[in-house]
Amino acid sequence: MGKTVVVCSGKGGTGKTMFVSNIGAMLAKRGHKVCVLDMDTGLRNLDLYLGLENNVVYDVADVLSGVCRIKQALVKHKSFPGLYFMAASPKPDEGEFTPLHLKVLCDKLNMKFDYVIVDCPAGLDDGLAIATGGADQVIMVITPEYSSVRDAEAVTSNLVEQKMNKIHYILNKVNVDLVREGYELSLEDLPEVIRRRLIGIIKDDRDIHISTNLGMPAVFQPDTYIYNNFYKIAGRIEKL
Ligand SMILES: Nc1ncnc2c1ncn2[C@@H]1O[C@H](COP(=O)(O)OP(=O)(O)OP(=O)(O)O)[C@@H](O)[C@H]1O
Ligand SMILES: [Mg+2]
Repeated sequence: MGKTVVVCSGKGGTGKTMFVSNIGAMLAKRGHKVCVLDMDTGLRNLDLYLGLENNVVYDVADVLSGVCRIKQALVKHKSFPGLYFMAASPKPDEGEFTPLHLKVLCDKLNMKFDYVIVDCPAGLDDGLAIATGGADQVIMVITPEYSSVRDAEAVTSNLVEQKMNKIHYILNKVNVDLVREGYELSLEDLPEVIRRRLIGIIKDDRDIHISTNLGMPAVFQPDTYIYNNFYKIAGRIEKL
C-alpha cells in the first residue's frame, strides 16, 4: 500500500508544481512507482512542467464523475519509467467534489503506486480541503519571505485543525547572496515549528526556471546541484 503526499503552500508561486514534478521524477528514478496528481483545478500547470500537455485525454474530474476509469486518465512519462501523471480539470467549476472523493481516489491509486504526490492550489479555500482529502503526509513549500512564512503558518493551523499533523516544509528559491547581505530570511529567522520540520532547502536556480519552461523536470540531468539536492530530499521523504 502506497502513501499520499500532498504538496501545498499559503502563498501562490512558491514552487509547488516545480517541486511535485521533480520529486515525482526523482522518486521514480529511485525505483518507486509514482503518480503525480494535479488538483490545481482551473489553473493546472503540472502537465506543462512534465511536457505532457499534448498527452492528456481524460482528467481527474472525468475519473471522479465516472466518465472514464482511473487507468484511462493515467499518462505514462517516457523519460522517467515508473512515473505516471493525472491532469487536473481545466475548468474551475467542474464537478462538486468533496474530500471524500479524493480519499477514495487516492486509496485506489495507493493500491498500484508507492507514492501519490498531489499538487494543490495555493491558499486556504475549498481546493486545499479537497486536495488533502486523502493525505497521509503534507509538504508545504515556502519561500524566504515574511508573507510566505506567515501564510504557511495559517495553512498549517488549518491543517492541524483538520487533524493533519504530519506536515513538513521545503524552503525554496533561496538566494544565498541576499541571505548573506541580510536582505532575505535566513534559517534562524524561520519559526521554530517550521525549522524543526524542514526536509529540504532549494536555491533559486536558473536551471529550474529553464526546465519548467522547457517541460522537462530539472532532475533529468544527473550530477547537477538540483539532481543531488532532490536525490537527498527524496531519501528523506522515503523515511517520513
Ligand atoms: N528554485 C527555483 N529557482 C528558480 N525558479 C524557480 C524555483 N522554483 C520555482 N521556480 C519558478 O517559479 C515559478 C513558479 O513556480 P511554480 O509554478 O512551481 O509555483 P506554484 O507554487 O506551483 O505556483 P501556483 O501557486 O500558481 O500554483 C515558475 O516559473 C518556476 O520556474
Ligand atoms: Mg502550481
